[in-house]
Amino acid sequence: RLRSVVRGCGSYLPRTTVTNDDLAARVDTSDDWIIQRTGIRQRHIAEADETTSVLGIKAAENALRDADIDPATIDLVICATSTPDHTFPSTATQIQAGLGIQSGAAFDLQAVCAGFVYAVATADKFLTTGAASRALVVGAETFSRLLDWEDRTTCVLFGDGAGALVLEAQPGEGRASDRGVLTSQLRSDGRHREKLYVDGGPGSTGTTGKLRMVGKEVFRFAVGSVTDVIAQAFEATGTTADELDWFVPHQANRRIIEASADKLGIAREKVVLTVDRHGNTSAASIPLALDAACRDGRIKRGDLVMIEAIGGGFTWGSALIRW
Ligand code: ACO
Repeated sequence: RLRSVVRGCGSYLPRTTVTNDDLAARVDTSDDWIIQRTGIRQRHIAEADETTSVLGIKAAENALRDADIDPATIDLVICATSTPDHTFPSTATQIQAGLGIQSGAAFDLQAVCAGFVYAVATADKFLTTGAASRALVVGAETFSRLLDWEDRTTCVLFGDGAGALVLEAQPGEGRASDRGVLTSQLRSDGRHREKLYVDGGPGSTGTTGKLRMVGKEVFRFAVGSVTDVIAQAFEATGTTADELDWFVPHQANRRIIEASADKLGIAREKVVLTVDRHGNTSAASIPLALDAACRDGRIKRGDLVMIEAIGGGFTWGSALIRW
């Protein structure tokens, strides 16, 4: 019986940081409002040369270095992104080429902010069925390019960045104490399209379009739906919130994260928060947060780590990983 075990992680952030005060000079907002409503203090914004694939390649290089493996041994690259450099070819193939990998399969996966959870779940299916042996799972985004910089209700929320995990198929016994992805729970409900979408695309305006969000509606849906898929992950593995070492949610809003943790009985000190420094980086937010917590020594081998996210669609999901 095979398990998808974490071999390494890495991340990369664009050079330029933008503070709330910087934004207040452009739109009618304030540092106080943004911190109170979201917990965000700053975000990184990509310059023209920092495309999604460039950020993804750098994050992947850091993850491969951490894993201490030869990139040529990677036989699956999945990139979760909603902000590809081009409609096609996929960002994953550009990351593959950037790393000098010439074999195996590479593809993008689009589930907006839930993209990284979907990508981990997908890689896990490839690895545990023997269809691949080593996977690079990347979340890379440049949401700044989709923002309406005159809309204060959205432009203050997002940032750019990338993160990556190397997962490897290893034999396991099927116990919750084994290292690896223990379960993943994916959901979607396309009826919620109008609450969070981009108003462009090849089949509509022919332009890239801008992000539109009814923030209050997303907020209302978020806490209930993510707590459901987290409870289902605990149930599927026979584990509890008490046994959890780290809760690493999608970083959209500090209030959503803390409300979810409280509802599930997850202690606040187990919550990894990076939204203050990164803003909402969509599919990149979880691997960026995982890498931050690995680098500062919080997440250690053997720890039980819950990841979860909700994004446009709506799409949402959770995955429980024994690190
Ligand atoms: N600065 C100052 N005032 C603002 C700003 C701003 N940047 N934005 C909105 N306001 C005003 C509003 O106009 C409103 O004013 P009014 O009362 O005079 O009408 C007031 O602040 C309150 O606005 P609300 O929208 O009610 O504020 P709320 O407390 O709901 O917070 C927020 C808004 C932060 C967007 C919140 O709803 C949220 O986080 N929603 C969830 C977003 C999310 O999680 N997305 C995740 C998925 S993202 C993805 O998949 C791509």
